[in-house]
Amino acid sequence: MPPDISMFSAEDAYNISLQRTDHIKFPLTFKLWAKGYPFALKWEAGLRKNAIINGAIADAKREFDQIANYLGARPIQKIVDIGCGHALIDLYFWEKYQCDIHLVDIETTTTHHHGYKDSGAGYASLEAAKNYLVANGVPAEKIKITNPQVSALVEKECDLIFSLLSCGFHYPAASYAAFVAASLKPEGVFLFDLRKKSDQDDYLKSFVHTDVVMDEPKYRRVAAIKG
Ligand SMILES: C[S@@+](CC[C@H](N)C(=O)[O-])C[C@H]1O[C@@H](n2cnc3c(N)ncnc32)[C@H](O)[C@@H]1O
Repeated sequence: MPPDISMFSAEDAYNISLQRTDHIKFPLTFKLWAKGYPFALKWEAGLRKNAIINGAIADAKREFDQIANYLGARPIQKIVDIGCGHALIDLYFWEKYQCDIHLVDIETTTTHHHGYKDSGAGYASLEAAKNYLVANGVPAEKIKITNPQVSALVEKECDLIFSLLSCGFHYPAASYAAFVAASLKPEGVFLFDLRKKSDQDDYLKSFVHTDVVMDEPKYRRVAAIKG
């Protein structure tokens, strides 16, 4: 059965379209957004709400299968998703592992960009993300949410911390280095998208081993293993 997406508003679809721009169909709407005019993209998100959300869900499922295949028989009891967006992939983690899920996102920022800078831009809703997971069967007590702009991000004993198209892709992976070092179990995995030509390879030296899970034109999805 496909996931229930009835809780998502047109505003959620607008944010999801910015998280996963492949599902924007009219190039002009994104071009205008990039110039500071969001109205056309908001119109498209209202018009093509289900297509945008279902397209992003299909990405999440495909990418989850690839990550789960990489993780193999590792026990996964607690995960953190940094830059989770609307947590579409986290539903699949719940279905396979019944793990504790900590969703982390800055949600909104006054300025926006879609490249690689010192800090990221926010386009998400943690409340909508949690509602999506709960409506699709994840017990509310298994989900934690943190907006690090609002409250301190604290976690411990994680098996997996991951960040898809966020930390390491839109802003330096090292931004969360202290959190990852403190929160990951020994032999735990930090899986993230390392943007090519962004001069971040030194960060990987703090791990005992690194695997490449996916190689895309703009980034490598790397799994860095803590010693
Ligand atoms: C391209 S979207 C990816 C969303 C989701 N991970 C996915 O794969 O579809 C980037 C996400 O990172 C969030 N973000 C940007 N800067 C961040 C930061 N410093 N800390 C946490 N989240 C951040 C944005 O709000 C957005 O939800």
